[in-house]
Amino acid sequence: MDKKVLDLSQVSRIVGDKKILSNISYTFLKNQIYTIIGPSGSGKSSLLRLLNRLDELSSGKIVYDDQNIDALSVCALRKKVGYLFQTPHLFEKTVRDNFLFVDDQISENRMTALLERVHLSTNMLESSVEKLSVGEKQRVAFARLLLTSPDVLLLDEPTSALDPSITESLENFIKEITSEENLTTIIVTHNPEQAMRFGQTGILIADGMIAESGNIKTLLENPQSDAGKRYKARELS
Ligand SMILES: Nc1ncnc2c1ncn2[C@@H]1O[C@H](COP(=O)(O)OP(=O)(O)OP(=O)(O)O)[C@@H](O)[C@H]1O
Ligand SMILES: [Mg+2]
Repeated sequence: MDKKVLDLSQVSRIVGDKKILSNISYTFLKNQIYTIIGPSGSGKSSLLRLLNRLDELSSGKIVYDDQNIDALSVCALRKKVGYLFQTPHLFEKTVRDNFLFVDDQISENRMTALLERVHLSTNMLESSVEKLSVGEKQRVAFARLLLTSPDVLLLDEPTSALDPSITESLENFIKEITSEENLTTIIVTHNPEQAMRFGQTGILIADGMIAESGNIKTLLENPQSDAGKRYKARELS
């Protein structure tokens, strides 16, 4: 059995009188890619945000590596459970400055190795961030995320701001890095075709609950729940 990385039991999030997520129980394993799909407003981003405490849960428990995430400092948790925003959040100035911000002791070798890791030229270290393309920025943000050697990557619609021509290369890169670094990668996508390209495990969220989970292809082709059938009829027709 693969190692448990994140374990959710009976997790709910309520804001005011709105139940955003209800009774989510799920175990994420090491060296796996998970895609979270579901209608707009169903709670996909909310679920991802709970996992590194960008939002707080109202009830239930999330365990990371055998520790309740509430018992860890937010900073320690976020080094191990990294979050990549939909549009890259970089600081002004150079790529080097972005790396130094996260680790001011970082060596020259580590910086060039990270750039090579995300298939960017090592000359780019001195490049001004504002001159990079969106795809390059996304890769720099990725490299910066890898700087703390995370176990889990949380990616909220990571390709939605990208040109279709570079979407595929980022998808391949995500697959490569997950397997080579032995990560758990959890990707929210509004695109079922993309979820199928990632393969592996899918989770369909509807109305703040897990409607289906399992092999993504089986789940999309042969949904068991009413919410799953509705999603298929709407998205795959
Ligand atoms: N802080 C908040 N206060 C009140 N309502 C919220 C809050 N955060 C999220 N919501 C609501 O919770 C529901 C789920 O939002 P969420 O952003 O998780 O959906 P989503 O599945 O990611 O949607 P999309 O595909 O459009 O990104 C939505 O109805 C949203 O309006
Ligand atoms: Mg969202």
